[in-house]
Amino acid sequence: MPGRVRRAVASRRARVVVTGGAGFIGSHSVRRLAAAGATVLVIDDLSHACGAALPPGVDLVRANVGSRAAAQAIRRFRPDALLHLAAQVSVNRSVLDPVADVATNVLGTVAIAQAAQAAGCRRLVFASSGGAVYGTARRLPSRERDRTRALSPYGAAKLAAEAYLDVFRATFGISTVALRYANVYGPDQDGGGEGGVVARTAQRLLAGLPARMAGDGGQTRDFVFVADVAEANRLALEASVTGPVNIGTGLATPVRTLLEHLARLAGSVQPLEHAPLPKGEVRHSQLSVDRAERRLGWVPATRLADGLAITLDAVRAQLQGAAAQPA
Ligand SMILES: NC(=O)c1ccc[n+]([C@@H]2O[C@H](COP(=O)([O-])OP(=O)(O)OC[C@H]3O[C@@H](n4cnc5c(N)ncnc54)[C@H](O)[C@@H]3O)[C@@H](O)[C@H]2O)c1
Repeated sequence: MPGRVRRAVASRRARVVVTGGAGFIGSHSVRRLAAAGATVLVIDDLSHACGAALPPGVDLVRANVGSRAAAQAIRRFRPDALLHLAAQVSVNRSVLDPVADVATNVLGTVAIAQAAQAAGCRRLVFASSGGAVYGTARRLPSRERDRTRALSPYGAAKLAAEAYLDVFRATFGISTVALRYANVYGPDQDGGGEGGVVARTAQRLLAGLPARMAGDGGQTRDFVFVADVAEANRLALEASVTGPVNIGTGLATPVRTLLEHLARLAGSVQPLEHAPLPKGEVRHSQLSVDRAERRLGWVPATRLADGLAITLDAVRAQLQGAAAQPA
């Protein structure tokens, strides 16, 4: 079975469904898959599309992941593999409305897995969250075998979805893997979801506002560049590894250091502005990526300083493009 997965998906004409393919990580992943020769179908309700155009030849079905329309689209397309990225991505919103979060992030995932299995799909890659599932870690960097303890409904939903995918694998024989991303950043992010601090700060700085720091800024995060995550997704679609795999850099950066670096890059001299810490946030998050290297042959290729410069340039170009548009 694992050998068959690899052959099916690695072939240039592999058929891949990407849910959430109009979003931040999704649009980077779709471009990478299409460039590698895959035939890609995007399923997205466009509730949080990032605005990047889909590559030529990639079709979009506008549908909720829990809907009959999404299941039918998967059955008709008969994918070799499916990348499930669509989600309610805000930790804050999950605290305010945990029931709505479960509807998309748990029920929606189960519906997608069921449709994939019914369509004969052999491989499902799920976007989980390293920042949200390990909670307050006893030791860092977190490894996949470490205890999980979510602190937010968003994290609990990601763990529940992982558990369901394990059942789909054990009971229905579809090969599943949960990529536990660290804080993903890069061009085309809007800053509303998890890991959005880079995008939010870049937008503020380029609008002439001070960077805003939640809490004392001593909280640390593992920031991973979106192009590297898109490559991890592509490799995971082809690989046979199952269960959880961390996707990060193995490095911890204090949020204050990140903000000061971005401010320097943007030429801002204003002091940082202070804001309260949102509920359900962990103090430290850092992921071991040894398993990703061993089982996917993946290593993060982009240094933080380079990724931040690329992101700031992209936000600047976007703002200049918007300013040049006729009113
Ligand atoms: N960005 C990060 O730092 C990060 C970290 C850990 C995990 N993740 C996970 O990675 C995945 C992608 O995140 P992202 O940052 O690209 O988010 P995003 O919001 O940019 O993309 C999500 C996409 O899913 C779509 N969507 C949302 N609800 C839907 C629904 N019910 N039906 C169909 N489509 C729906 C949105 O329109 C959007 O295009 C998510 O599962 C997220 O939880 C992201």
